[in-house]
Amino acid sequence: MLLKTPIEVGGVRLANRLAMPPMQTGKTPDGSIGPELAEHYSRRAAGGAVGLVITEHSRISFEGQAGPMQISLASDEEAEAHRLITSALHAAGTKVFAQINHAGSAAPEQFTGAAPVSASAVERRTRDGGVIVPRALTRDGIAEIEEQFAAAALRAKDVGYDGVEIHSAHGYLLNQFYSPLTNRRTDEYGGSVSGRVRMHVETIRRVRAAVGAGFPIAVRLGGCDYTEGGSTIEDSVEASVLLAEAGADMIDLSGGFCGYIRPDGYREPGYFSDMSTEVKRAVNVPVLMTGGVTKASEAEALLERGAADMIGVGRALFRDPDWALREMA
Ligand SMILES: Cc1cc2nc3c(=O)[nH]c(=O)nc-3n(C[C@H](O)[C@H](O)[C@H](O)COP(=O)(O)O)c2cc1C
Repeated sequence: MLLKTPIEVGGVRLANRLAMPPMQTGKTPDGSIGPELAEHYSRRAAGGAVGLVITEHSRISFEGQAGPMQISLASDEEAEAHRLITSALHAAGTKVFAQINHAGSAAPEQFTGAAPVSASAVERRTRDGGVIVPRALTRDGIAEIEEQFAAAALRAKDVGYDGVEIHSAHGYLLNQFYSPLTNRRTDEYGGSVSGRVRMHVETIRRVRAAVGAGFPIAVRLGGCDYTEGGSTIEDSVEASVLLAEAGADMIDLSGGFCGYIRPDGYREPGYFSDMSTEVKRAVNVPVLMTGGVTKASEAEALLERGAADMIGVGRALFRDPDWALREMA
């Protein structure tokens, strides 16, 4: 079975090609990590059945939070409790990456106390039905956030993670730069795909400078918006090549402003494989694809037809903690 074959990501060997993708658990009402969260992860990866766990998105700054329940790698003090997760997962026999994120225009002002920022001042609907207009970041503002990504990545390394994943999917800040729906910039951070991923490329370089060699950097790219005027599969291929050239060790594909599902109602197992197949052809780093897989046989079929190098199983594993032990037996 291909799914059970080991794979290397940025020099780190994973025991198999099954990944648990990042999923916010809601087990941290005020964002602070306790044993219950560590148990949530280690239970699902018991027996080494999951090759790679990517933890739910951590904020890189207080202003960049997605909400008060979000866990944090924004300070050394907050990072410390992540050791509960990394040690529990290492004891279970799996590797673990931390997903790091800045929410950009999706950072709610009522919690951050700061006006939301983005690529451009494009209106955004909030979850409670309001409308906000974020402030377009200046070059200095961009550089500051890139440094916050680097500092958070270094903290992740220090508390035992095996790698980091930079979040650029589901409409958060880096996705706001990538998608033409929200990036109207006329400077070097806008326009062509290479402009729209300039901040990603700079972030990868700064993260690498902070963490050094041998510590994998993945990018979760919300590669396609599946929406008129949004980012396209062709964009995702071009972007992935640039990200890999900049030093990304793995490309993890999901949706853009459509979130983690397809807006056209397509729900087949591996529903982002139209995109991931194209990206896999174009890059020479491992490609992870997640979406709609609920059986190991479905993951296997996707690997066999070259849709990706690794398969993520999210909701099925979230609902059923024994999923991996059973399906990978
Ligand atoms: C409750 C929940 C929380 C999620 N949180 C995150 C997250 O923190 N970061 C992220 O990139 N994706 C997040 N996702 C998306 C998942 O990683 C995954 O892409 C999605 O569930 C689709 O895969 P599936 O069909 O295997 O469930 C979340 C999904 C769910 C259901």
